[in-house]
Amino acid sequence: MLKGPLLPRGESNMSNLCPPVFLVSLSSPEEEALCRALRVRDDQSDFIASNAESLEQAADSPWCEPLAIRAMQTGELVGFLMHALDPDENSRWIYRLMIDRNHQGRGYGRAALRALMAHLHTLPGGPGVALGVDPENIGARRLYASEGFVETGEVIDGELIMRRMST
Ligand SMILES: CC(C)(COP(=O)(O)OP(=O)(O)OC[C@H]1O[C@@H](n2cnc3c(N)ncnc32)[C@H](O)[C@@H]1OP(=O)(O)O)[C@@H](O)C(=O)NCCC(=O)NCCS
Repeated sequence: MLKGPLLPRGESNMSNLCPPVFLVSLSSPEEEALCRALRVRDDQSDFIASNAESLEQAADSPWCEPLAIRAMQTGELVGFLMHALDPDENSRWIYRLMIDRNHQGRGYGRAALRALMAHLHTLPGGPGVALGVDPENIGARRLYASEGFVETGEVIDGELIMRRMST
């Protein structure tokens, strides 16, 4: 797992005014504990693993990079994401993206996705970025589609696969 200080920022305050965010490597137990405490809404809990589970997965995989999402203006922790390289496909997967329930609906999800895509562009691996989304997760599907992800018709473990180039 990569560790380090601040990662490159995304161009997250583009046309539709999402508040800028920056992505931070989880370099301390304290930062990890803060991420574990983040929560989605109860009606969203089937759409994503808990951050505690994701961090366990990351600890067991050299391919995963978990990152905290912080608001640029205040530094406040607003969410969590995790991406991974699929070494067979040589493509990147967005395994997790969540914004804490108290911070949703303010543009942080879109800003974090843009920051992540900018970050992925700097990493080794092919240009393709993929993710899986629950068919009932209408909000996430709208977000991804509006950022250029396309549903490919693939279904893995009941999730719809969406793909986009990282550029
Ligand atoms: C999906 C998620 C990350 C979006 O984060 P967010 O900060 O609330 O989203 P934003 O405010 O940036 O909104 C971005 C777009 O998402 C879509 N969206 C978000 N919430 C929505 C909702 N409740 N209904 C419909 N569309 C929604 C919209 O297209 C929105 O754009 P718009 O405001 O221009 O219409 C957040 O809802 C979340 O953490 N959900 C639970 C975890 C999850 O499902 N993650 C995705 C797993 S694949």
